[in-house]
Amino acid sequence: MRVLGIESSCDDTAAAVYDSGEGLLSNVVATQVSVHEAYGGVVPELASREHIRSIVPVVEQALAIAKSGREEIDGVAVTAGPGLIGSLLVGLCFAKSLAFAWEKPVCGVDHLEAHLFAIFLEHRVDVPYVALLVSGGHTSLFRVDGADEVTFLGGTRDDAAGEAFDKAAKQLGLGYPGGVAIDRLARQGDRLRFPFPRAWLAQDPASFSFSGLKTSLRTFLASPEGRTARAEDIAASFQEAVVEVLAGKTLAAAKREGIPRIVLAGGVAANSRLRERIEEDGGREGVGVHLPSRALCTDNAAMVAFLGERRLSGGRASGPDLNAYAASRFSR
Ligand code: KG4
Ligand code: ZN
Repeated sequence: MRVLGIESSCDDTAAAVYDSGEGLLSNVVATQVSVHEAYGGVVPELASREHIRSIVPVVEQALAIAKSGREEIDGVAVTAGPGLIGSLLVGLCFAKSLAFAWEKPVCGVDHLEAHLFAIFLEHRVDVPYVALLVSGGHTSLFRVDGADEVTFLGGTRDDAAGEAFDKAAKQLGLGYPGGVAIDRLARQGDRLRFPFPRAWLAQDPASFSFSGLKTSLRTFLASPEGRTARAEDIAASFQEAVVEVLAGKTLAAAKREGIPRIVLAGGVAANSRLRERIEEDGGREGVGVHLPSRALCTDNAAMVAFLGERRLSGGRASGPDLNAYAASRFSR
C-alpha cells in the first residue's frame, strides 16, 4: 500500500509518500521561517495563509519525487490535530478533497502519535519503550507498548522545552526559531560556567517545569555578571540545564517502568547536546537509546504517511466527519 501523507499543524507545510514495501519515497517540507521571524514567533493567521499558498506545490513535489499519481496512491493520511486550527484545516480540507476526487480512503492522524512512531521509519525498536516527546508545544513522557497502546506518564506544567529554547534565544537576541541558534552557539561555550536551576520536581518525577529557568535567565541577563558574560557560555549553560533534566527524567522513567529502551521524538530531539547526553547516560545505565535522524525529529509528513499506512492497511479509514482538533488525547 502506498500512502500520501500531509502535515500542516503549525508552521511547516509538508507532504510525503510512504510505501509498505519500498519505505519512504519522498519527504518534502516547506518552512515558513521567513514569514514569522520578524514577529519572533508563529502568527496563526499568517501561517494559515502560507499553508494555502504552499500546499499544492508541496504535494505535487512529494508525488513527483515518489513518481506517483492517482494510479499509484492507495490512500491519503493527514494530521487532524493537535495544532493551530486554521493551519490544520488547510491540510485537512486539501487531503479530504483530494481523497474524494481520487476516490481513495482518507485517514486522520494525531500529530503527537505520529512523532512517537517516527522512529520506525529508520530503526527496528522492540516494544515496550519509554518515549520523550519534546517539541515547541509539548514535553511529555510516554510508555509505548504497541501500536494502540500509548500511556501518558507525565508532561510539562508550564512551558515546553522548545518554547524555553525559543524564549531564551529571544532574550539573547539570537532570532527565531531559537532552538537551532542556541544549539549552534552552545558548541563554543562552557556548559558548566553558570549554574542555571534544574526543576527536578521530586514529588512528581515524570512532570517538567521550565518557567523558573526562563525567569532565572532573565534575572541573570540583567545582572552585572550577566551583562558581561559571553553569549556562548550563557547558551551552553542554559542548554545544559534543559538537557540534564530531559535526559535525567527520561532515564528515571525508564527505570521506574523497568524498560531498558528509550526513544526520542519532536523538534528538540534534534538538539545535538541532548542526543549526546542521553546516549552517554543511557550507555552508562544499560538503557538503549534510539534517535530518529534530525529531519524526522522536527515536523514532517513522513511520520504521518507512515502511521496512516498502518491504519489504512488495517482497514481503519476515517469517515467524512473527520475534523481538525486543537487538543490531543495523548496530552494527558
Ligand atoms: O516538532 P517541532 O518541529 O514542532 C512542534 O510540533 O512544535 O518542534 C519545534 C521546536 C522549536 O521550539 C525549535 O526551537 C525546537 O523544536 N528545535 C530545537 C532544535 N531544533 C528545533 N531545539 C533545540 N535544539 C535544536 N537543534
Ligand atoms: Zn511536532
